[in-house]
Amino acid sequence: MSAWTKYSPIFESDAYDPEILSQSAWRGHRKFAYDLVRNLQPQTIVELGTHYGASFFSMCQAVKDGKLDSKCYAVDTWTGDQHTGAYTNSAYKAVKKVTESAFPEAAVMLQMTFDQALNEFADESINLLHIDGFHTYEAVKHDYETWLPKLAPNGVVLFHDIEARYVGFGVYRYWDELIVQHPAVKFEHSHGLGILLPKGIDERLLSLLAGWNVNKISYFS
Ligand SMILES: C[S@@+](CC[C@H](N)C(=O)[O-])C[C@H]1O[C@@H](n2cnc3c(N)ncnc32)[C@H](O)[C@@H]1O
Repeated sequence: MSAWTKYSPIFESDAYDPEILSQSAWRGHRKFAYDLVRNLQPQTIVELGTHYGASFFSMCQAVKDGKLDSKCYAVDTWTGDQHTGAYTNSAYKAVKKVTESAFPEAAVMLQMTFDQALNEFADESINLLHIDGFHTYEAVKHDYETWLPKLAPNGVVLFHDIEARYVGFGVYRYWDELIVQHPAVKFEHSHGLGILLPKGIDERLLSLLAGWNVNKISYFS
């Protein structure tokens, strides 16, 4: 069983724009996402829902620091949805600036809908998929079901907002349906991050999963 290494990353994106962190409910998961990419070394990483890029840049940073031959794709219209509210072009411009300056090798922005982006990826080609778009039950179910064929064997799916129980949010309900079908673990902080393994488990994850109740504590921040 491979050991799970914990790193102490410095997130370069923090130096670019304070909005990247201040606009994100995701920031408490950055160290875990970074370590996940460093340890798992997924070749193709796709994020559905990037906004200002807090989650996306944590994964790009891991690819850069680890000198990995991986690509990180950010899919977003960068126009917002009913939960984020409609927003202006400033988020797109902020993400573009960091992408081009800090992660020109690793990061690719796809400004389109999730459904349109499906055509950009072959079946079973994605090793790490992060679903963080519109958070109704129907939307997250649609995003998962349409993208599941794109997930490679032993691929990992991350779901944000599995603990958000606000009016109109339904990720937690869909998550409850998935975890009786597939191996899964979760973090409850920062609105919750679910880790689903619907197509098998990469052996590089085994030591993390074996010590889950102990290891996860140090990812609160
Ligand atoms: C919650 S935000 C993403 C937050 C981000 N992961 C972070 O770390 O802060 C959701 C994003 O998904 C985008 N979005 C929602 N539904 C979409 C769809 N069907 N196609 C493309 N983008 C979508 C919105 O524009 C918004 O920027």
